[in-house]
Amino acid sequence: MDLQITDKALKEVACDALVVGAIRSKAEQNTNGVVLSKAAKEVDAVLGGLLSEICSGGEFRGSLGEMTTIYTMGKLTAKRVIVVGLGPQDTLNVQSLRRASAIATRNLQQTGAQQVALALFLDDVPVEEELAAQAQVEGALLGTYAFKKYLHSDDNGRGITQVWLVAAKASTASLEQAMHKGSVLAEATNFARDLVNEPPNVLTPTELANRASAMAKQFGLACEILERAQMQELGMGGLLGVSQGSAEPPKFIILRYQGASKSADKGMALVGKGITFDSGGISLKPAERMDEMKGDMAGAAAVIGAMQAIASLKPAVNVTALIPTTENMPSGTAYHPGDILRIMNGKTIEIVNTDAEGRLVLADALSYASREGLSPMIDVATLTGAVVVALGNTSAGLFSNDTELSDEIIAAGTVAGEKFWPMPMDAEYGEQVKSDIADVKQTGGRAAGSVTAAKILEHFVGDAKWAHLDIAGTSYVDSKKPYQEKGATGMAVRTLAELAMRRKK
Ligand code: BES
Ligand code: ZN
Ligand code: ZN
Repeated sequence: MDLQITDKALKEVACDALVVGAIRSKAEQNTNGVVLSKAAKEVDAVLGGLLSEICSGGEFRGSLGEMTTIYTMGKLTAKRVIVVGLGPQDTLNVQSLRRASAIATRNLQQTGAQQVALALFLDDVPVEEELAAQAQVEGALLGTYAFKKYLHSDDNGRGITQVWLVAAKASTASLEQAMHKGSVLAEATNFARDLVNEPPNVLTPTELANRASAMAKQFGLACEILERAQMQELGMGGLLGVSQGSAEPPKFIILRYQGASKSADKGMALVGKGITFDSGGISLKPAERMDEMKGDMAGAAAVIGAMQAIASLKPAVNVTALIPTTENMPSGTAYHPGDILRIMNGKTIEIVNTDAEGRLVLADALSYASREGLSPMIDVATLTGAVVVALGNTSAGLFSNDTELSDEIIAAGTVAGEKFWPMPMDAEYGEQVKSDIADVKQTGGRAAGSVTAAKILEHFVGDAKWAHLDIAGTSYVDSKKPYQEKGATGMAVRTLAELAMRRKK
């Protein structure tokens, strides 16, 4: 998809479809509560008041993602105009623009448009023009994403090839830079989505390592892959224990970005759970929806995607990505409930349920980060079903030992269009994971399951600032949405990259 900015008059932009926005407002009486944007008004004038007429008639209400199509019959160079709703005025933000752009472009792609012009910039709203440009580009790339590589026939080659952003400020470098940032972030998100959507017979730990290593080569990151023998030397008993039931060899992927090589600060660690298939192991999961457990490496994908974006955007910080990856399978060599595993930092864990494997592989990776003196550490994982019960598919759980870091992540997420909700980490929850025969017990029972999982991870972070993002409910959608297809969402890629950008000194 070719993305460009243009300062042409709306009337003269040659394209299959021109997209303009309209807001839902309580105040406006005569248009049924719809306020046309400046661009929409301009189009309305050229079309002799047709848009106003549609609004007055009550056909179009301006709610987020609502659309109406008008064929221009030569009155504009664009063949059709799409008016897309941006939702209520009082909740309008950068995410409304990202969603509206995604919904409009996704719909246009399905109806055969190839050249699309977006004119969703607005006056009098608290969204600066650069952020609006970035969000429109992100929306277009995220909304039109599809994972079709295993389909024999595609939709007859349908696809948007060209997107114009129609802006008043057209030639300014800052808008072009914002568009570039938007396309880098969206492409990194789509890369992560590809990794999650790949079937588990293709995306094995070895293949995940290969793809991370190919990306590192292309984007200029250092990459190191640790093999089983090295894990044994390092004492990574968690990762080794989980992997021992699988015929696929485990890998420990390390990616390094040095944006501040002269700095004494070792920089931050991004840690991603990379279970390429989670059957539950000996504590086998039920068959229903087990296929979705190919997505149990979404944390790893988020971290690898974020590293790609960071390598492109080049903030002046150092970032190390650590990804423990393996399958979790039942077999005669699999680890058992009752086993005691020793993690790299020396602490022992009493295994009670082999399906709680994520915390074990993360424990080794966090210990590794701690040994390297990395801080802050942020781990991303599809860790618990309990977080889905608590927060559903809207917000990811955010667990941290540092309020400032936690606030930073929430703020970066707001700009990125990803929601994180802070969860409690009180010492009392730690009581649930005490063991009589090991340093920690692997699980703390049904109550507060996502919190007790985080309490276990906390044992392995040493004195670093640390945050844990549980994306089990937000990394995958099981039905298609107007703004995205069924499957991987790429959750946390943009927030992590945005966080790195904001930390640059
Ligand atoms: N990968 C799962 C968590 C998960 C559940 C991810 C649903 C995505 C959607 C994880 O390894 C797991 O099975 N956790 C167990 C822990 C329990 C045994 C303490 C769970 O949440 O049931
Ligand atoms: Zn599991
Ligand atoms: Zn899992």
